[in-house]
Amino acid sequence: MSAVVLGHLSDLHLDGGAAARDRVEAAVAHLARMAAGFTAVLVTGDVSDRGAAEDYETAGALLSSLPVPVLLVPGNHDDRAAFASGLLGRDGHVPGAPVDQVVVAGAVRFVLLDSTVPGEPWGRLAPESLALLAEAASTADGLPTVVAFHHPPVALGIPEIDAIRLRDADELASVVRAHERIVAVLCGHAHTAAAATFAGRPLRVAPGVRSTAALPGEPSVGAMVPGAPPAAAVHVLRDGDLVTHVRAFSGFPS
Ligand SMILES: [Fe+2]
Ligand SMILES: [Fe+2]
Repeated sequence: MSAVVLGHLSDLHLDGGAAARDRVEAAVAHLARMAAGFTAVLVTGDVSDRGAAEDYETAGALLSSLPVPVLLVPGNHDDRAAFASGLLGRDGHVPGAPVDQVVVAGAVRFVLLDSTVPGEPWGRLAPESLALLAEAASTADGLPTVVAFHHPPVALGIPEIDAIRLRDADELASVVRAHERIVAVLCGHAHTAAAATFAGRPLRVAPGVRSTAALPGEPSVGAMVPGAPPAAAVHVLRDGDLVTHVRAFSGFPS
């Protein structure tokens, strides 16, 4: 199998202000320069800081400069209905329903799940989302499957973030263990790049575009690293092995 290369942005937190927008613009422009080799660009949630339709319009306009499919999952700061309508062209969102999608790109099946719990900062995957993952990973074509959602399913050693991670992750782990073709789990929410394993598969957490969370003991302001630039990950998937690169873009005020 030839390599599948995936750009990965997370936690844009667009809020109508220039600072957030400038950071997204810089990150997207950087990925756009590399995108000839990409299969897709994944955005793992918190696209808007406040769930505003205007922010999804801005995000859609900025991301449209990428010449590859853009795959999006919502985060806890997003509004399901506004996200679905503004970014996925899905109107008439049913209240309470997760915004889940299955997309095939570059001979990989991406299962894009909504781990948000409206009104809560922590996450949980609904039974129907887990069922969708199991069904997608059982498709007869046997394509490798990448699952993406916002909240990391493991503790990262950062207390503020660990307190609001994915709950009931055992249920997800059971589905992942039962389906060998799930080759990677990709998340955001932590605002800091991290690599781990989950249910025996590689788990990657994207760095934040809007800000970077401090590790314990690291100098911080409001739990964030002051002055940290926007950043992105680039994943290379080949024969079931995942290599992840991380890039930060200097020269940005926080
Ligand atoms: Fe975030
Ligand atoms: Fe988040």
